[in-house]
Amino acid sequence: MSNINYIRDWIWIDYDELGSTNDVAIDFSKNSSGKNFVITTKSQTNGRGRTGRSWISLEGNLFMSMGVEFNIRELAALVFMVSLSLLNTIKHICVGSDVLLKWPNDVLLNGKKVSGILLEKGSDNYMIVGIGVNIVSSPENSDLLYPATNLASAGIKIDRIEFLKQYLMQFEQIKDIYARDGVSKIVELWLSFAKGVGKNIIVRTPKESKQGVFVGIDNDGRLLLQTLQGLEKILAGDVFFDEKV
Ligand code: BTN
Repeated sequence: MSNINYIRDWIWIDYDELGSTNDVAIDFSKNSSGKNFVITTKSQTNGRGRTGRSWISLEGNLFMSMGVEFNIRELAALVFMVSLSLLNTIKHICVGSDVLLKWPNDVLLNGKKVSGILLEKGSDNYMIVGIGVNIVSSPENSDLLYPATNLASAGIKIDRIEFLKQYLMQFEQIKDIYARDGVSKIVELWLSFAKGVGKNIIVRTPKESKQGVFVGIDNDGRLLLQTLQGLEKILAGDVFFDEKV
């Protein structure tokens, strides 16, 4: 069962249960030209994560996919706008909370991953932004790529729908900044909250592991890593912070 509603200018459809909100959003984008929409569900049975991983979808958490018309060449800006909006949402709900960003698109609360973002191509000009936010619980298995946390365990009490409303407001504000000041402002803001800038990090790509100093990101969203061999521009990978490196 689903309910069609509006949150300001966003068409919002909330389901009781579905496989993946991204699949439903991709489908919805076929007949939605000119509109922003967001799909949510209480229960998600087949959540997808980045690089073919699955997303453990525990009930009470937020599973959402936004459909926004966006030029695919501006993808890097969109990735950073979404994670910045999530960070701003948490900071707005809980002033003073320890929230940081981890390249390319994770949000860390007290040093652990609290949300994940999966961007996929929708129909025509639509980009589908799938977001999972651990609101009330988080997976605890030891084979997680990065340790996870949730808002409730950090003492932040909010339900998934109220979080969604606050998030959309923050996203609209960041979108206005992008329209006014462009990608370099978004990159500058993102970097001001990024964990590990100027420090030694490890970046794991499907092929190899690289060590070096995280010196920044460029306007195409690539991580700039100063290694002993020179400056590397990394397009995709997983970042790990190792104080011993
Ligand atoms: C990651 O690997 O960090 C990205 C996880 C993205 C999970 C969200 S949950 C809502 C949306 N629907 C999906 O199937 N995946 C995304």
